[in-house]
Order: sequence, then C-alpha cells, then structure tokens
Amino acid sequence: MEKRLAKAKDLLRQEGLDGILVQSPANRRYLSGFTGTAGSLLITGGESIILTDFRYTRQAKGQCSLFRVLEYQNDVWETLCGLLKEHGIKRLGFEDGFITYRQYFRMKERLDDAVPIPLDEGLNLLRMVKDEAEICLLRTASQISEEALGHVMQMIRPGVTEREISTALETYMIQAGCSGPAFEFIVASGKRSAMPHGTASDKKIEYGDFVTIDFGGKYEGYCSDMTRTFVVGKCSSRHKEVYDTVLTAQLTAQESIKAGITGRDADAVARNIIKEAGYGRYFGHGLGHGVGLKIHEAPTLSPKGDIVLRPGMAVTVEPGVYIEDFGGVRIEDLVIVREDGVENLNKMGKELTVL
Ligand code: GLY
Ligand code: MN
Ligand code: MN
Repeated sequence: MEKRLAKAKDLLRQEGLDGILVQSPANRRYLSGFTGTAGSLLITGGESIILTDFRYTRQAKGQCSLFRVLEYQNDVWETLCGLLKEHGIKRLGFEDGFITYRQYFRMKERLDDAVPIPLDEGLNLLRMVKDEAEICLLRTASQISEEALGHVMQMIRPGVTEREISTALETYMIQAGCSGPAFEFIVASGKRSAMPHGTASDKKIEYGDFVTIDFGGKYEGYCSDMTRTFVVGKCSSRHKEVYDTVLTAQLTAQESIKAGITGRDADAVARNIIKEAGYGRYFGHGLGHGVGLKIHEAPTLSPKGDIVLRPGMAVTVEPGVYIEDFGGVRIEDLVIVREDGVENLNKMGKELTVL
C-alpha cells in the first residue's frame, strides 16, 4: 500500500497539485484498502486522510493504516472544506470521469478559491501495472472460474436453459470463495451466440448450437474474465471453420504479447488472421482490455490501443466472430504481460469441444 500511495504522491507532484480527492470505489480501495461504500480520500504531499461516516469509522481504522480517519456528520464537504483550508490546498485533483454533473457543481460551489483539476485518467492509470499481491488475487479468481466451468460443463445439453447454466456457475463461484459475479454472465446459444454480449436468457440449449459462456467472479475485489465456446451434439464443417479461425487468432495474438508492444499491435495480429480467413467484418470489437479491481480498465487492446504494454499488466485476449442467423464464437483468456511473453491465468484447454 505504501508503494501505491507513493505513486499517487508522484502524480500529485507531476501535476503541480496540492491535494487529490479520490471517491471512486476502485481507486479508493487501491490506494487505501478501504472496502466500504462511503468514503473520500484526501491525499496531500504530507498527509493522507479518509473521511467516512459513522457506519464505516471502525472499518476504515482497521483497513487504512496509512490514513488518518475522520468521521463526518452530515455533509462530507463541510469537513473537506475545513481540511482544504487547513492544508492550503489551491489546486485539487478530482475524478472527472466518476463524479456526476450535479456533484461537480456542488463541489465547485464549496471550493471557495481552490480550483478543481481533472485527474481521472492519471489516477486510473496508476492501477494499470499490477503488483504480485494483485496478480495472486487475479490468479485465484481465474482458478475459481475454471473450476466452476469444469463443474458446469457436465450439465450443458439440449433442454437446459442458458439461465440455469449461468446460475449454476455463479452459485459454484460464490461457494468457492468469490464475493459475487464480476459482471452479468453471457450464456448465448444457437443464433443468440451471434450477439457478443448476449446475457443468459430462458432459451433452451438445442442440438447443434454453439454455446458461448463469458463469465468471471470477484475475489477479494479482483475480477476474472474468461470465455469458452462449445458445440452441443453435432459439429458441422461451418462450426469448425469459424471456431478454428477464432482459435488461431486467439493463440497467435496471445503468443505475440510481451512487454514493449502496443495494444494496437496485438489487436492487429488477431484482426489480420480473421480478415485473411474472410471473416473480417464479423469481428467488430477490440481484442481485449485490462482487468483488475474493475472488469474493464486500461489498457485497451484495440485499434485505439496506443499504450505500450508493460510487465505486470493484466489483459484479456478475446477475439470473436459473430454471424447473424448462424451463431458466434469467442475465446478469451486473461494473461499477465511479462518481459518476454505472457503468464496465462487460464489453464483450461481451448480446442473445439463437442458436448
Ligand atoms: N464480459 C465482457 C468481456 O469479456 O469483456
Ligand atoms: Mn469476458
Ligand atoms: Mn473481457
């Protein structure tokens, strides 16, 4: 936690700020360890303070050893304004991508002569390279996902609904230690699998369906994210061709990832393979994204991905091909970028599996 706070203080100096206000759950937890739902961090060059209310004072004292804990009564801004004056804060960094339009104007009214400086991107980028403690949690979250899918695969057959599969996955993961799902699970079968984000419905699995399952859990705040696509009953040559195209793109792109390349480079590897196979127009999303305390975070692996990958970044590799009135395939692993390649947190096989 000391290193994380030091990174925030470096940012404060680089941006010529006197203080940083952090209120988003992910950044707040990352910098302080606080897991409650109400709390504001005020980080200055000298002191770090967490302001919270009666419900969370004891919890904050236990979780935030590097912070002075202050309990506010009615309005956090009354206490904050006093602190800004006490610390002579004129330039205050804040999370412009998190607070609402209404909260922004309320903050401006209360700031007197201090100026709010947008700092969302800088703060979010602090979380991009994971430390080994975070990687351990991502690893555990991914292991639990794979155990859950291994267990639930046995129930995938004609007649079972997508929702039953989704519920069984979620239940298993919570029993195995996850606090809950990292996002609404995608279980999309048959023609529905052509919807990249087709969340589980009451549709029954049918003979000859693709079934795409994209899911993840939260373990100690950290998300897993993986996708496997199966064929049920009978696999046609078209199923096989689409599947093999996506698999080749996934494996080749994953092999290309290492420190020093950009997200755009990795995306291009997968995109070219899919295009060469004649399915270019059916791959309409990016190759992947960062994962951590949030399911989608920096860096992006897409044609817009100009961030150079660094060791310790956690990114997904998830190409897909989606054909309307037929179905779709996505295959997704979560990997850690290392100096010369990746550590794949997903061990489950990716060969075409007919259930
Ligand atoms: N569940 C959405 C994704 O894989 O990014
Ligand atoms: Mn996913
Ligand atoms: Mn993903």
